[in-house]
Amino acid sequence: MNSSNLRRNQLTEVFQQHFGTAPSLWGRAPGRVDLMGSHTDYNLGYVLTLPIGRDTWIAARPRADRTVQLYSLNLEAQASFSLDRIVSDPQQRWGNYLRGVAQVLQAEGFNLVGFDGVIHSTVPMSSGLSSSAALECATATVFEALGSWQLDPVRKAQLCQRAENQFVGVNCGILDQYTSCVGQAGCALLLDCRDLSSRPVKLAEGIAVVICDTKFKRELAGSEYGQRRAQCEAGAQQLGRRALREISLEEFYTREQELSAEVAQRCRFIVEENDRVLKLADALIVGDRATVLSLTTKSFRGAGELYEIGVPAMQSMMAAMLKAPGVIGARQAGAGFGGCMVAFVEREQVEAFAESVRRDYHNATGIQPETYAVEAAAGTGLVAV
Ligand code: GLA
Repeated sequence: MNSSNLRRNQLTEVFQQHFGTAPSLWGRAPGRVDLMGSHTDYNLGYVLTLPIGRDTWIAARPRADRTVQLYSLNLEAQASFSLDRIVSDPQQRWGNYLRGVAQVLQAEGFNLVGFDGVIHSTVPMSSGLSSSAALECATATVFEALGSWQLDPVRKAQLCQRAENQFVGVNCGILDQYTSCVGQAGCALLLDCRDLSSRPVKLAEGIAVVICDTKFKRELAGSEYGQRRAQCEAGAQQLGRRALREISLEEFYTREQELSAEVAQRCRFIVEENDRVLKLADALIVGDRATVLSLTTKSFRGAGELYEIGVPAMQSMMAAMLKAPGVIGARQAGAGFGGCMVAFVEREQVEAFAESVRRDYHNATGIQPETYAVEAAAGTGLVAV
């Protein structure tokens, strides 16, 4: 039996135990890893992003009333809410992702049907691979299927982002939800966050993507994120632009002294990182290893020295990744402050790479990391039965 069938059987069994019947459909949505473009999304820039095989499933069955009853297999916890009175529950944060999506969809005029649901995710939580977006997008997909209407994938991403911004209260950009909704199997996406267009980018044969999870979590990530965002917005405004995306590298270098030292540092990282996204996409398509190494190394250095989203655990992981056999290049992922990092690795050396990283990182930090290769997965949809 393949792993997808196995998972479906397991979820069906849990569903039976909780709701006394079988689910009638399965919605799924992938997590993501950014290959280049840290914090460029809310600056309306570019991101090279990969929807990954780690995903969130919701097994669901419609109900006759307007209640949503949920059981999370990962958290072994229940949540429920009425579609007629959606309020945030601070005691049950995970349920708020579903409540938020329901509220936004209803406000947009979509007809929602109550359901019983069992949730199961293989996206690790709070580690920078967008478990929140995967949950939101899977929720939207379930409501869509049960309500018999259809959302354009980009609009679905925007509505899920709105749920996170306005209901959950996290001021994230569009990257996570866009990747989870628009992703295609087999390729990365070069996303333009200004017009929300994207094009598929196929990595050259032989280049694998390996996630290296530092297992280090930093509490402050949320407030630091908001500060970085505010600094970028202030910098763009002082330079007379709507967003940092609208300023070229050349112009930025001639004008950065107009900004305060710290704001200039933040903005410099974004403007340079944005330029690296386009270059990395080209390098990965043709398999130009030297350029991949140079761009990813610069990205990591800028993230630490200019954007200051690094932590010592990330330094140790970077050192372990760059020393490991088969490495092509490596950098941070997600918002930074710990969590997962990403490496490009010669496909036939993935095993040796992973083993070496685990040993060296553990020796340096005493923390047991997790490493796994990921393949580009399809965006959110129903699991075919
Ligand atoms: C988080 C946010 C995204 C993006 C990244 C950093 O994942 O949710 O919108 O800003 O951080 O690139």
